[in-house]
Amino acid sequence: MKDVYTFADLENWSDATAGEAAPLRVAVLGDPVQHSASPPMHNAALEACDLPARYCRLHIRPDELTETFARLKAADFIGVNCTIPHKLGALLAMDEVDEQAIRIGAVNTVAFREGRLLGYNTDGPGLVRALRAEFSVDLRDLRVMILGAGGGAGRAIAVQCALEGCERLVLVNRTLEKARLLATELTPYFTSTRVLGPADRLEAVPWENAALRRQLENVDLIINATSVGLQSSDPSPLPASLLLPHLMVYDTIYTARRTSLLRAAEAAGARGANGLSMLLYQGAASFEIWFDREPPVAAMRSALLKHVRQPAA
Ligand code: ATR
Repeated sequence: MKDVYTFADLENWSDATAGEAAPLRVAVLGDPVQHSASPPMHNAALEACDLPARYCRLHIRPDELTETFARLKAADFIGVNCTIPHKLGALLAMDEVDEQAIRIGAVNTVAFREGRLLGYNTDGPGLVRALRAEFSVDLRDLRVMILGAGGGAGRAIAVQCALEGCERLVLVNRTLEKARLLATELTPYFTSTRVLGPADRLEAVPWENAALRRQLENVDLIINATSVGLQSSDPSPLPASLLLPHLMVYDTIYTARRTSLLRAAEAAGARGANGLSMLLYQGAASFEIWFDREPPVAAMRSALLKHVRQPAA
C-alpha cells in the first residue's frame, strides 16, 4: 500500500488505488499525516474481522477539506479519522455531530451513512476505556487533575470528565488564563456537591509547586495532556517530590514506554500508564462506530506495539 494518498488521488480513486489488494474505504485525514499509527492498527482490525476494506493515510490540506468529504462519499468510503489540523473543520462540515464532539469542538471520527456525514469524538470515550483497562477504575468516580488543560488533548479530556460527572476536576495549565476559561465553560457540570470535604469540585490552579501540592491531597488521578515528554530529554512535568503513593498517573504520551513523568510516579510509589491505551481505545471506538461490531482489541494492540517505537526509558 502507498504510504500516503492525496486529494488529487481522490478525484479518481479506483484508478489511483487499482494496485491495492482490497478496496481502501477507511482513512485518516491530516496535514502532516505520514506518522499516523492508525493505519496499522485499523488494518490489523479489518484483517482480524475478515472485512473487505483497508485503511490508508490521506494528506489533505485545510482548503481541500470540504471537497474531500464530497470525494470520499463518491468513492464509497465507510468512514475516516480526522487529525491535526482538521478536527474543527470536520465538525463544521458534518450533517450531524454527537454531544461529545460538539462540547469538545472537535471531530476525530466521521461515518458516512446513507449519504450523510456523522461526526463523533472518540478521544474522551477512549480515555475512559483506557483507564478501566489500566487501573480498573471508572473516570466518574475519580478526583482528576489535568496538566495542560488549555491544549487540544487537555480540553477533550476535561470535557469527558465533565460529561461523566467525575468527583472533582482540577485544571492546570502553564498559561493559567486558558484553564480559567475552560473552568468557566464547564461550571454547569459541577454544581452539585458530590465530594465530602472542603475542596471545590472544579478549580483552575496555577502551575506552581505549592498550589499543586495542596491540590494533590484531594486528587486520585493525574493526567498529563501537555506535550512535555514527547522528547526523551524532556524533564518530568511534575517533580517526583510532589507525587504521592495513592495517585494514579496517566501520561497521554505514548512514544516512550516510561516517560520521565512515569518514572517520577514509580519513584514515588504511584501507579502509572502511558498513552498507548488511549490511542488504542479511541481507535477501537471509531471501529465500533463504522462497523457496528466488537473491535478486535488484542489484534489492534499488537499492531500498535509493533508500529510505535517505545524505548524503555
Ligand atoms: P495544542 O494541543 O492545542 O495543539 P500544544 O501547543 O501542543 O497545543 O500544547 C499542548 C499543551 O501543552 C498546552 O496546554 C501547553 O500549555 P500552554 O497552553 O501554556 O501553551 C502545554 N505545554 C507545552 N509545553 C509546555 C511546557 N514546557 N510546560 C508546561 N506546559 C506546556
